[in-house]
This record gives sequence, C-alpha cells and structure tokens, in this order.
Amino acid sequence: MKESLERPTSSEDRLLTGRAKVAGVIGSPIAHSLSPRLHGAWIRSLGLDAVYAPFTTTIDGFPRLIEGLRGGVVAGLNVTLPFKTIALSLSDNVQDQAGRAGAANLLLFHANGEIEARNTDGLGLLYALERQAPGWSADAGPITILGAGGAARGAVVALKDAGATDIRILNRTRSRAEDLAQDLDCRAYDFGDSRAAFDGVMTLINTTSAQLDGTDALPAPPCATPGAVAMDMVYKPLKTPFLQRCSELGYRCVDGLDMLIGQAVPSFAALFGETPPECVDARRLLLSGSPEEDVP
Ligand code: ATR
Repeated sequence: MKESLERPTSSEDRLLTGRAKVAGVIGSPIAHSLSPRLHGAWIRSLGLDAVYAPFTTTIDGFPRLIEGLRGGVVAGLNVTLPFKTIALSLSDNVQDQAGRAGAANLLLFHANGEIEARNTDGLGLLYALERQAPGWSADAGPITILGAGGAARGAVVALKDAGATDIRILNRTRSRAEDLAQDLDCRAYDFGDSRAAFDGVMTLINTTSAQLDGTDALPAPPCATPGAVAMDMVYKPLKTPFLQRCSELGYRCVDGLDMLIGQAVPSFAALFGETPPECVDARRLLLSGSPEEDVP
C-alpha cells in the first residue's frame, strides 16, 4: 500500500497502464454514489496511474466477491449500505474503531492475501463538525444521537475517542437503544423520553433513515442552548427537514456532505498512498453538475 504510484508527465496525457492501481466502492444500490466522482477528481488532479470504480452485488454474492479479491488484484474497496457489517465479518484484521463500531467502510486487500477492515466514517463525522461548526468540541456538553443502527454506533465510537462523556441514544425502538448503550457505555432513551434525552443538549446528531421515506417522524428538539450544534448524516437534500427545524430553533447546523468528504480523505490515502490534493474543492465538485435536490 505504501509504494508511490507512477505519475504520467501531466494530467492531460494520463493513460491507464497495465500497472494501474484499481480501487472502488461497493454497495447496493451504487449508481447514486458520489465517491467515484470525488476519488476520480483526486486521481486526475494528482495524475495517478489509478482508477476508482463503482461495484455492486447482492447480499449473497458479497462474500464470494470479497473472497475473490484476496491477494490484492484490487487494492481496496470502500463499503457502503448494506454491506458494512458483513464486510467486517469477512476480514482478517480489524482496525480498533471498526471493531468497536461493528462496521467497516473500507476493506484493504493486502498482497499476502489478508483483508483489513477499517472505519473512516468516524473521522468524517468529526471533520464535518469541526469544519461547519468552528469551535465545536465533543466535551462541550451532552450529545444526543437519534438512531441506534450501525451509523449511530460509528458515531458513538468516534465521539468517545474525541472526548465525549455524556452520550444519549434516542431511538424509536427502545431495545436497540439499550443494546447500543450497553455495548458502548452510554444512556438509552426512546421517543417517549425525548424531553429527558434532549435536556441541556449541546450536540444533536441524526443518524436515522427516518426522513428518507418522506415522513417526518423524529421527535422535536427544544430551542437551542447558546452554541448548540445539530448535524444530519443525510445529505439529500442538503438541508433536511430535521436541519431546517433545528436551524429555526437556533442550532448551528452541519449537513452530511462534509462527512462524506471527511471519510473519503483517509480512505484515499489508504488506497492510493497519497494525500488528496487541496486544490480540488471537494464540496463544490460534489454539488456541481447536480441541482441540490439531486445530491444523493
Ligand atoms: P444504519 O446502519 O444506516 O444506521 P439501520 O441499522 O437500518 O441503518 O438503522 C436505521 C435507524 O433509523 C434505526 O435507528 C431506526 O430505528 P429503529 O431501530 O426503531 O428501527 C431508524 N429509523 C428508520 N426509519 C425510522 C422512522 N420512520 N422513524 C424513526 N426512526 C427510524
């Protein structure tokens, strides 16, 4: 993974050679993914002999496909829904954050046949909060996370590593909140307890898919304490109904697009051994060419 890639003399005469490094993203569905656009722009900007492609398969086909990639034919894959949990279970080496989150969003295929699982989503979450809410800190006060799925687990791990001490899990299904709270040492609430879960909150993070079906089923937060921050991991639309409401209540709002960028930066470095070039404005790139409501 560490060797540096051959660079053509300029990005204009960039040609893929037989030694091109191949990586990509796998999910189902995958056609909407913005990752190929982002990694592709970084590859072009650096003039790398490399390609980043989208892949898809079924739940049954995923283990076979991953087994077939042992040995490094493909350098690695970012992993998105619904394969993040199964990706972890197929790996030989599991990075600490991925193990505690119970999910991997990056698989690296080493030449010795081993598969390494990492989770860079947590880094993406922190990047988004720090970038869009300057001065935000994990230990500024209570953090309430809406949802108790894999995305919530990843968030809890990252926030704890960043110094959070009071994390509350607020979920529609109480038993899932309790399981997460027990595994990762935080407190569980269901939607009936939302007032207690929101009391004094300084950071509010929506990890649920509640808005994706067009319903607005999340409990309403209280007016913001000065400096309180609200984030939504969903980035379609960029300003979700949840963020819209939080904005009206006085929260500083963080959208989900920077989390996508923030997880892609360490993924790119792990896949291609290069730091993404700063001259590419990733946010602008992802928003360009598609009206905001088309951002998947
Ligand atoms: P992920 O791995 O992306 O977090 P998941 O494990 O399917 O996905 O979790 C989805 C989360 O969104 C869960 O917290 C789910 O709540 P339940 O545990 O009660 O199912 C939440 N969610 C999905 N649809 C919802 C809705 N309409 N209202 C409230 N919560 C919802």
